[in-house]
Amino acid sequence: MSENAPQVDVDLGSVDFNIVYEGGELVPGLITEGVPWDIKEAQPGTIEFQRRGRYRGVVLDAGCGLADNAAYLAQQGYKVAAFDASSTAIKLAKERHKGLDIEFFVGNATKLTGYENRFDTVLDSALYHVLDADDRALYLEALHRATKPGAWLNMLVFAHVPGGMPAPMSVPDDVLKKSIADGGWKITDMTMGSFSGVKSSMAVFVEKFGVDANPDDRNQIHVPTWLIEAERV
Ligand SMILES: C[S@@+](CC[C@H](N)C(=O)[O-])C[C@H]1O[C@@H](n2cnc3c(N)ncnc32)[C@H](O)[C@@H]1O
Repeated sequence: MSENAPQVDVDLGSVDFNIVYEGGELVPGLITEGVPWDIKEAQPGTIEFQRRGRYRGVVLDAGCGLADNAAYLAQQGYKVAAFDASSTAIKLAKERHKGLDIEFFVGNATKLTGYENRFDTVLDSALYHVLDADDRALYLEALHRATKPGAWLNMLVFAHVPGGMPAPMSVPDDVLKKSIADGGWKITDMTMGSFSGVKSSMAVFVEKFGVDANPDDRNQIHVPTWLIEAERV
């Protein structure tokens, strides 16, 4: 990508995600109306990882939001824990998935203290790329502590490609790969997929930044996203 690749003027470190779960605008004037990732079903990438046999043992859904991914995994028979920094998200997720056996907790991905050596698999559905660079490093290290030796990490990360999401939510591939390796994880596979969002929430943003959003007739968009498989070193 060129130096002139689209860039959003947003400080990821200061975004308050509670706002969006309480009915406010995540990025005022740009991302409007509702929770932009609330497609009310599991992400296609989450299902693709299941098709590939990429979940085992106790699965952690990191930055679960409204937890439709965690719910899908619980329905598949996995033991699932799911956390988010937003207490409102966790409250709403608990209500939405009342009948399911999911261990929910409010937690900061950059710390995860009290969860050492617990998880066999981690699903990151669009958490890593909403953190700033310092927090991405802390997060991957925290995940390393919270997982067991040989654990698997499955990530959905916006791809820094023409027509993809702008920086800082997308990260050049070399930076992304180095960051994951520095966090103690070895990438074993990286393929292009998509992340689905709510078309009406993202319309202004998509137009302004020229995102190739592949809208469908279900009020969803589908933006280029890496499906990354990694293993704890
Ligand atoms: C793009 S949303 C994805 C939500 C969900 N994984 C999904 O796919 O629908 C990112 C989520 O990460 C959460 N988040 C942001 N920073 C966090 C942090 N430091 N620790 C835990 N969760 C965080 C936000 O509250 C938000 O729910």
